[in-house]
Amino acid sequence: MKVPKYIRACECKKTDRPPVWMMRQAGRYLPEYRKCRHSISFKEMMKTPELACKVTLQPIDRFGMDAAILFSDILVTADCLGASFDFIEKQGPIFDDPIRTLADVAKLTCENVPEALSYVTQTISLLKPELKERQTPLIGFAGAPFTVASYMIEGGPSQHLKKSKSMMTQAPEIIDALIKKLTHVTIDYLNAQINAGVDALQLFDTWAGLLDPAFYEKYSYHPITEIISNLNNPTNIPVTVFSKQSAAHLSKLIQTGATVISLDWQCDLKEMKTRIPSSIAIQGNLDPHWLYAPEQTLIRHVEKQVAIMSDRPGYIFNLGHGIMPDVDPEKVKCVVDTIKNC
Ligand code: CP3
Repeated sequence: MKVPKYIRACECKKTDRPPVWMMRQAGRYLPEYRKCRHSISFKEMMKTPELACKVTLQPIDRFGMDAAILFSDILVTADCLGASFDFIEKQGPIFDDPIRTLADVAKLTCENVPEALSYVTQTISLLKPELKERQTPLIGFAGAPFTVASYMIEGGPSQHLKKSKSMMTQAPEIIDALIKKLTHVTIDYLNAQINAGVDALQLFDTWAGLLDPAFYEKYSYHPITEIISNLNNPTNIPVTVFSKQSAAHLSKLIQTGATVISLDWQCDLKEMKTRIPSSIAIQGNLDPHWLYAPEQTLIRHVEKQVAIMSDRPGYIFNLGHGIMPDVDPEKVKCVVDTIKNC
C-alpha cells in the first residue's frame, strides 16, 4: 500500500495537498450516528466493537477524510481502573465518587489493562480490513493523565479545575499518585493499540493549557514524555499531542518527543510555523465555530489557512478542537472538499 498522505505529513514529507481529518469527526452532528445512538448509551456503544467500528467509518464514507480516528473516549482508562461514571446528556461525564483521598486512589486497580480494554483492540481488529479497503490510516488515542485525572477529581466538566489545582498545593501526594497510576495504564493501553495495528496515535491533554509553567511541567510534560518514551513502537508510528492553549507551553510541548503538535485555534499559524522546528509536523487549527459561517466565507478562510502552511511540509489540516453537535454536516463536507481542491 502507498504510504497515506496523513502518515507522510506526520513524517514531515511533502504531499500534493494537506491531509484532512477532524477531531470528533464521528458524532452527534451526523444523522447516521444519531440513528445508531438512538437506542443505546454512548458508553455501551463504544464498548460494542461492531458499533464502534461502524460509527468510526461513517465520516470516512460520507466525506472521504484522510484518516479515521477510533471511536472511543479518553475516559476508558478511568473506567478500566474501576472509577464509576456516566455520560449525562447535555452535561458530559459525571463521576459517582470523585477522588478526594489517597485511599480513593489506592482503590483504583486494573490487573490486566489490555484485557480490560479488549473491546478497543477488538474494534481496531474490525477496522483494519475495512480501512485497508478504503486506503485510510487509523489513529488510536488516549487521554493524557492530567486531563483524565482532572475529570476524576472534579467529578465532571469544570471551567477552572479548582479542585484539581487546589489538590496540587494542598495534598499533592494524592494527585501525584493518581497521575502515576494513569501514566502506567496509558502506556499499557497505547501499547495494546499498537499491537492491534493502529497506524498512528494521538494523546489528548485538552486541559493542560490551564496549568502554570511549573505544574504544566510536572503534570503534563513529564507524564506525556514518560508515555512516549515507553511506547513499544518498532515501526515508529507517529504520535500527536493535542492540548488547548498550546502556545502557552509550546517550548515544553516541543520537547515531549511528539511527532506532531496539534494546535488549538487560539494560536497564530504564521507564528507557530516559525517556533515549531521543521522536524515536527503541525496539525490544526481552524476554530470549530467557523463551521457556522456561510459557505463562501468558510471556503475563503480555509484557503487562507492552507496558503499560510503551503511552504511547510508536515502540515495536517484539522480543527482547533472537536466538532460541535449542532454543526451542519454540509459545512464539514465543504471544508474537506476545499482542502481536496487546494
Ligand atoms: O474524535 C473522534 O471522532 C473520536 C472519538 C472521541 C470522542 N471523545 C467521542 C465522544 C475522542 C477522541 C474523544 C476525546 C475526548 N473525550 C476528550 C479530548 C478532546 C476534547 O474534545 O477535548 C475529552 C475531554 C473527552 C471527554 C468527554 N467525552 C466529554 C467532555 C464528553 C461530553 C461532551 C459531549 O460532546 O457530549 C464526552 C462524550 C463523547 N465523546 C461523545 C463523543 C462522540 C458524545 C457522545 C454522545 O452523547 O453520543
